[in-house]
Amino acid sequence: MAFAQSDVISLPAPRYDSTISVEVGMAKRATFRNFRGTPLTLAQASQLLWSANGNRPGQPSRKVIPSAGALYPLEIYLVAGQGTVGDLPAGIYNYDPSNNSLKMTVGGDKRQAVASAALSQMWLSQAPAIVVIAAVYERTTVKYGERGIRYVHMESGCADQNLYLQAIGLGVKAGTIGAFDDDSVSEAMKLPSDVKPLLLVGVGQ
Ligand SMILES: Cc1cc2nc3c(=O)[nH]c(=O)nc-3n(C[C@H](O)[C@H](O)[C@H](O)COP(=O)(O)O)c2cc1C
Repeated sequence: MAFAQSDVISLPAPRYDSTISVEVGMAKRATFRNFRGTPLTLAQASQLLWSANGNRPGQPSRKVIPSAGALYPLEIYLVAGQGTVGDLPAGIYNYDPSNNSLKMTVGGDKRQAVASAALSQMWLSQAPAIVVIAAVYERTTVKYGERGIRYVHMESGCADQNLYLQAIGLGVKAGTIGAFDDDSVSEAMKLPSDVKPLLLVGVGQ
């Protein structure tokens, strides 16, 4: 399949059920750092992205994660290599929860650049995909002022935990990184100036 940079890439619809209980997910949750780069399917990537910031079925104005004032400051990105996520071209993609789709923001495999910016924790570059949890603080601080900053950080933790649990539901792994140079990650990802990276999560196996 050929994609142009401006294309909206529809993802397979997320599943709302599985045979793995929430309790099993919590009991097995662990940080994984030994990725072999085994490709993710597009359906697996869709499920992971939905778990981080997807809409609740039947309630399009609400998401799978809680949000102070339902202001939803998070922006989720997928960093993929060539052939590491279904037939997606290597690139960085912004996840749109409104229609469960991706839009490429940067072309090329940026996993090494992102891992280098994470104080050279290069294990991250071996993950088939990196889910980047980022946020636009102003969406929350416009209502809550300074206190909104802590709300945004709490919400990024909710998305992170969902990713860990969803990974187990899919039979894959996740590993979170919070130690990175903010400006270097923003530069590697060419993030808009109001979008700030908060957590980098390697996913796959
Ligand atoms: C906010 C946050 C930041 C983290 N940053 C890193 C990191 O930069 N590098 C890393 O290897 N692990 C990082 N971790 C993972 C922790 O090291 C890990 O959760 C901890 O060692 C407990 O292990 P477990 O997750 O397997 O239970 C981070 C976890 C959180 C919640």
